[in-house]
Amino acid sequence: MSVGQRPIGVFDSGVGGLSVLRAIHDRLPNEDVIFIADQAHVPYGPRPREEVREFAERITRYLLDRGAKLIVVACNTASAAALRALRETFPEVPFVGMEPAVKPAAERTRSGVVGVLATPATFQGELYASTVERFAQGVVVLQDTCPGLVGQIEKGDLEGKETRRILENALRPMLAQGMDRVVMGCTHYPFIIPLIKRIVGDDIEVVDPSLAIARQVERLLDQYDLRKVDGKAGRIRFMTTGAIEQLEKVLPILWEDSVGGVQVISYQ
Ligand code: DGL
Repeated sequence: MSVGQRPIGVFDSGVGGLSVLRAIHDRLPNEDVIFIADQAHVPYGPRPREEVREFAERITRYLLDRGAKLIVVACNTASAAALRALRETFPEVPFVGMEPAVKPAAERTRSGVVGVLATPATFQGELYASTVERFAQGVVVLQDTCPGLVGQIEKGDLEGKETRRILENALRPMLAQGMDRVVMGCTHYPFIIPLIKRIVGDDIEVVDPSLAIARQVERLLDQYDLRKVDGKAGRIRFMTTGAIEQLEKVLPILWEDSVGGVQVISYQ
């Protein structure tokens, strides 16, 4: 099999990575993808970084064993904990990771106040600190970890009472301080953008990095000459380390296209 025919590997702690997968699949519809939701361990956010790094390394090995030609760490938390180590451990593999989109938000803010929604582990990571330091000089950056929100989205609850309560707790104080841009610093959150917009109103820009990630995947495929060129529609394989219903139940809510099936896997 030529290298280009091999799949792209995409993983997250859970269903959040589907927001990134959506952008990749829309931009590169011919590419095959293996998507892994590590739902046996979701959420990653409150876990120690060493543990998340261990998960990320083991999932990467699993994907490479199945022929992955490029790996997308579709998780801000895992990127913060493991991206540097992954690049060191697997120097021949092209990786694309997430970084909270503080830069575009800080460049475009008019009020000088931006908000970021992400997990505790993402906020504690060096990647986040250096992004704020490099790109948000002179801008007030407000943060909230939205406790419980990842769990709501894992259940497919995108607009119920509890989901709304968590978001209002996070967003109202940010609005009161003049925020005009809010960054989706967790890949689960793009799924609740409609609800976020209902809370913050039309004047606040919601910054979702998924499209930029898809563009970066495309750039790397070209740079390493890894594109699949047979012109056939790409096939996506959905895998979970959790219970099959955990993914099967929410896929129809979060993934509009038909799904061939879900496979339960475990990595060593
Ligand atoms: N979707 C993830 C992120 O982007 C992780 C959420 C979690 O598992 O806590 O950070």
